[in-house]
Amino acid sequence: MSEFVMESCKVNEDGHLTVAGVDTVSLAKEYGTPLMVMDENKIRQVCRIYKKAMIENFGENALPLFASKALSFKGIYRIMAEEGLGSDAVSSGEIYTAKEAGFDVSRMVFHGNNKTDEDIRFAMESGVGRFVVDNIEELEAINRIAGQIGIKQKIQIRITPGIDPHTHKAISTGKIDSKFGNAIATGQAEEITLKALDTPNVELTGFHCHIGSQIFETEPFISAAEIMIEYIADIKKKTGFSAFELNLGGGFGVRYVKEHPYFDYSAAIKTIADKMKNSAKQHGVKMPVIMMEPGRSIVASAGLTLYTVGSVKQIPDFKNYISVDGGMADNPRYALYQSQYEIKIANKINAKSDFVCSIAGRCCESGDLLAENITLPKAERGDILAVLVTGAYNYSMASNYNRLGRPAIVMIKDGKPYIAVRRETLKDLVAYDM
Ligand code: LLP
Repeated sequence: MSEFVMESCKVNEDGHLTVAGVDTVSLAKEYGTPLMVMDENKIRQVCRIYKKAMIENFGENALPLFASKALSFKGIYRIMAEEGLGSDAVSSGEIYTAKEAGFDVSRMVFHGNNKTDEDIRFAMESGVGRFVVDNIEELEAINRIAGQIGIKQKIQIRITPGIDPHTHKAISTGKIDSKFGNAIATGQAEEITLKALDTPNVELTGFHCHIGSQIFETEPFISAAEIMIEYIADIKKKTGFSAFELNLGGGFGVRYVKEHPYFDYSAAIKTIADKMKNSAKQHGVKMPVIMMEPGRSIVASAGLTLYTVGSVKQIPDFKNYISVDGGMADNPRYALYQSQYEIKIANKINAKSDFVCSIAGRCCESGDLLAENITLPKAERGDILAVLVTGAYNYSMASNYNRLGRPAIVMIKDGKPYIAVRRETLKDLVAYDM
């Protein structure tokens, strides 16, 4: 077991942090900073855990779909294809990236609470397998466009089961007042289901729910799954329609800091499956084909970000800052959610930690921080700072604020680093300017 939250991190004889067996200080020197480093073997290992647990507990047709909003670039879709996972998408951009990678988009579900007509047409013409329909206007648009193209589009309907998973408000989406989906409690779920069954150019395959993200308890997932089984039973009684697919969304928690628990994905899937099978039996419904949409749990713990320290500012009696050459532009999660991270000075792992400080990014914005009041060894200009567990929702949420280029992603496969996404250059930054 590693002394770090990231299992693939260790310390070498130089006192440097390593990831997947490679010295992070050498990586920073070779590829520059800020740099995202990802352990490909770790990503594949988690994919296999999901695949195995889902097939064992839900049957051979069960399918994990990688929630690619967590991390989207061509290489990641290739890995998912090789590991036999499907994927989700929320935009034409994600669908296009997957297609460019040669990913079979019939194994893709298309999400979002406001798919444009252009998105809908692009997804249909690309052959995206399922649309997860969020609202009535979208259902009508899908029907119209499918009619024009001359296809019958398979759809799942996004249902809001009304579960509050006690997580950070900004990432909790299964509650009744959510902007996503159709609540059972208000009757809107039934309304859109009846309409879908009566819509000629769509084929309703089943339902979808997603209750939130970064959840460590199994109970909210069990409750949601049981509510969905009940809903399937209710619709069957009222209409005769038997849903044959149920997509349970994503949301399993990730250990970002030592205070977070370990979460056994495999055990959780088994518990949820056992409870669901019981519930299905009780309600007299056949167990549907189960899909899940893990995002964070597949990639977060496989990644870390390396920065170079620029300055150490000590404001006597107030605060100390270590400034790095990235920040909210490549990782907006602290600014948005005060997300906690394990942070290390990669070239001084064995040095004494007694410097209480905040980590500042380089953007012109006081809120551009990566952490506050953490204790590190005293740093100096040129040191390499590592923020661990940044594989999910960092690169995918990165921006060009202050015209900063987005970092490169270096993957490590079997101990060998390779560039998976190159660093954005100054030229890239003006590429769209006329
Ligand atoms: N399926 C749907 C419909 C979703 O909305 C999400 C995440 C997932 C699956 C994947 O959930 P996961 O397994 O990654 O928890 N930007 C935030 C997270 C937003 C999550 C949005 N939806 C963050 O950085 O924490």
